[in-house]
Amino acid sequence: MTQRSPFLEALHCRNFSSRPPVWIMRQAGRYMPEYRAIRGKYSFLEMVKTPELAAKITNLPIQRFGFDAAILFSDILTITESLGFPVRFEEGIGPVYDTPLKMDTPLESLRPVRPIEEVCSYVADAIKLTKSHLNVPLIGFCGAPFTVASYMIEGQSSRDLKKTKQWIYRHPSSFLKLLDIIADATIEYLEMQIRAGVDAIQIFDSWTNVLTESQFVLFASHIHAKIINKLNHHSIPIILFCRGSGPFAHHLAKAKPHALGFDWTCSLKGIRSQLPPGIALQGNLDPCALFGTKENLIKQVNVLLNEMEGDPGYIFNLGHGILPDVSPNAVETLMEIIKSR
Ligand code: CP3
Repeated sequence: MTQRSPFLEALHCRNFSSRPPVWIMRQAGRYMPEYRAIRGKYSFLEMVKTPELAAKITNLPIQRFGFDAAILFSDILTITESLGFPVRFEEGIGPVYDTPLKMDTPLESLRPVRPIEEVCSYVADAIKLTKSHLNVPLIGFCGAPFTVASYMIEGQSSRDLKKTKQWIYRHPSSFLKLLDIIADATIEYLEMQIRAGVDAIQIFDSWTNVLTESQFVLFASHIHAKIINKLNHHSIPIILFCRGSGPFAHHLAKAKPHALGFDWTCSLKGIRSQLPPGIALQGNLDPCALFGTKENLIKQVNVLLNEMEGDPGYIFNLGHGILPDVSPNAVETLMEIIKSR
């Protein structure tokens, strides 16, 4: 890896080069024909669980677009296998749990069956293999306990998370217990990724947009703080991304992440003025801007770049994952604009 990475510098709020670093969430995915070609031969889980394939896929968007950081090709839900609760991925549906957790499921049944290093050894192997070929920093990641729990309860993607919210309103203390069990596994999982060599970590709390402020504090930011606290001694930069969290930036800062990622429903410049110094900011172009005309895409990217110009702790990203039907040409345009600054 290059000595002075603009991505790592920005995570420490000291990127003084002329442009911000850039990577995009879900950058190794279906919008890339190179990904679809490999996906045509293997199932998603086969790809995730075969270190050679995961390493190759992680590197695809770096080779093609020249992003400033790579994110490991994996998924936030594979960790639940270590709790005896494996996920499967169904074509056209996504992640599925065949027997979702219910409010009356005894949580004692969710104890680690085998150590995470054993159950998820393919993740550590993929990290080591990826690092041996990569010339940019590698981001490891996990889902935050709230988002992981929501999939275990809903059984598959759901828009309103009704069952999860029913649980919260009926049995908040057992919901907290569930989050705690997932948090303990997550800490072990991230420790393993750090030992294997990741350069930074992103915690995805993708479904926090359904929470009220007090729920956000109790079920999201307190849990983030616990995880970040436990990993502090590694001095690995941690990025916290919570969807819909613009109004709660001050709560997120209390968890002391190195960086906060935001979706497109807030102004990063506005958020900057509310935060204590020293926290990097990541985001937040609307992923649908990549469907616009080239002229409009150029305009939208420049609006964001101008807004954050001169901020040594700014990392360009989308406000959420890139959509599968985006044209790679739009990503090329985006990269040209940023790299020409
Ligand atoms: O490129 C990268 O960002 C790295 C790999 C990555 C994937 N998933 C690959 C993936 C990462 C970081 C994730 C995180 C993830 N997974 C999240 C949090 C981020 C977010 O988008 O909010 C969530 C909620 C999941 C759970 C998940 N995995 C869903 C809901 C789905 C189905 C929807 C979809 O996009 O297909 C997946 C499958 C998945 N994860 C794919 C990829 C490339 C598509 C698999 C395929 O090829 O069929």
